[in-house]
Amino acid sequence: MKKYVIHGGRPLYGRIEISGAKNAAVAIIPAALMVDGVCRIENIPQISDVDLILNMLQSLGANIRTFNRTTMDVDCTHIVNRQIPYEDGRKIRASYYLIGALLGRYGWAEVPLPGGCDLGGRPIDLHIKGLTALGAEVDTRNGYVYAKVPDGGRLRGAQIYLDIASVGATINIMLAATLAEGLTVIENAAKEPHIVDVANFLNSMGADIAGAGTDVIKIRGVEKLRGGEYSIIPDQIEAGTYMAAVAAAGGEVRVCGIIPKHMECITAKLMEMGVEVEEEGDSLIVRRSGSLQRTNVKTMPYPGFPTDMQPQIAAVLSIAQGTSVLTEGVWGNRYRYVEEFRRLGAKIQVEGKIAVIEGVDHLTGAPMEACDLRAGAAMVIAGLAARGTSEVTNISHIERGYEDLIGKLSGVGADIRVVEVPDPERAAATA
Ligand code: EPU
Repeated sequence: MKKYVIHGGRPLYGRIEISGAKNAAVAIIPAALMVDGVCRIENIPQISDVDLILNMLQSLGANIRTFNRTTMDVDCTHIVNRQIPYEDGRKIRASYYLIGALLGRYGWAEVPLPGGCDLGGRPIDLHIKGLTALGAEVDTRNGYVYAKVPDGGRLRGAQIYLDIASVGATINIMLAATLAEGLTVIENAAKEPHIVDVANFLNSMGADIAGAGTDVIKIRGVEKLRGGEYSIIPDQIEAGTYMAAVAAAGGEVRVCGIIPKHMECITAKLMEMGVEVEEEGDSLIVRRSGSLQRTNVKTMPYPGFPTDMQPQIAAVLSIAQGTSVLTEGVWGNRYRYVEEFRRLGAKIQVEGKIAVIEGVDHLTGAPMEACDLRAGAAMVIAGLAARGTSEVTNISHIERGYEDLIGKLSGVGADIRVVEVPDPERAAATA
């Protein structure tokens, strides 16, 4: 077990290079299952969620070779198994993409019901509705999703309306429909940048997908996909997290290797709060010297303000002048971090999906326990802004989605390090 120890109150200066997008990588790697031949995938982030997905592919028989830190050849030509081990699949949300990919290519899949961060109810009814519309028989029992195409045939294209613009359901249906017979139309599709990235990946391997990034995606099924090369987009949320860190701690940091267009929803809110953001090619220069001003934020599907930036922006609003209202528009329960923020002196009241944040003059360091990935990142931001020493435990949540967080933050002058926490059970056994 490890924890972060942060000596806060130091402004950040320098540059941070952004890694490949987690939520694109965890969909594109399973998508490689549908390809006959080798997919060379570049800009893969080194995070534990990616390791888990790669392990699952290997358990199915995929051949994976790593070239440099971020490039891999994934060859799924000789898949021998279609069942994901329970302990692997349940650890991570994105394991649900293996259903669409295996079903599309092989006509059956057995995948554990997905896990992931606890953000309130996380049903997969829309995934099942979509796959069923394509002709699959889907059954959930004993913690598994069993999906198959009857008679061992192919899925058939269909018109699918999503009641909610779900990221996961949009991608899963897109995966399954890629090798189906005929045309699939997804209406009220999600539009997040990683949806476009998955469609681009599939198209570069021979798929025929149009409209990704809009409300309506049209997928004309093809017979097979062939190998090729693809580079994953930069991580919008990782970039936003570091922008929020500079806003909270002060200083000037160039956030590099990003797509500024993807950052607009975040940039706009930070600027409203008095943070200066300047675009220069594939970088944003983020500067905060004066005081932060209050604002209201509501999370929404893209191009709205991302729910995956909600805890991080709450950390910044905690020290802004005035009272801000934060509304969670995607998940049922994404305020579990508030209790931890209060230990630092933050003044936040939560009522259902709304958090009212009364900005305080400063936060004071304290121990915090990460309860999920983005909440954990937000605790790091709060710790960087706070006076004195903070600790964040349960950091495995953070390592799921942030590559080299310590290296990147230390590189811009943060005083943050990882410390081993003695395992209480082992300590008791040796006492
Ligand atoms: N929903 C349903 N039924 C479904 C699917 C979703 O009711 O079948 C509801 C959810 O309960 C939620 C809303 O629809 O209220 C949106 O959920 P969505 O399906 O879009 O989320 P997801 O695919 O499970 C992905 C990201 C999350 C991110 C959300 C929203 C991945 C692996 N996860 O989850 O990322 O919060 O989209 O943008 O892509 C994170 O990275 O920290 C993270 C939690």
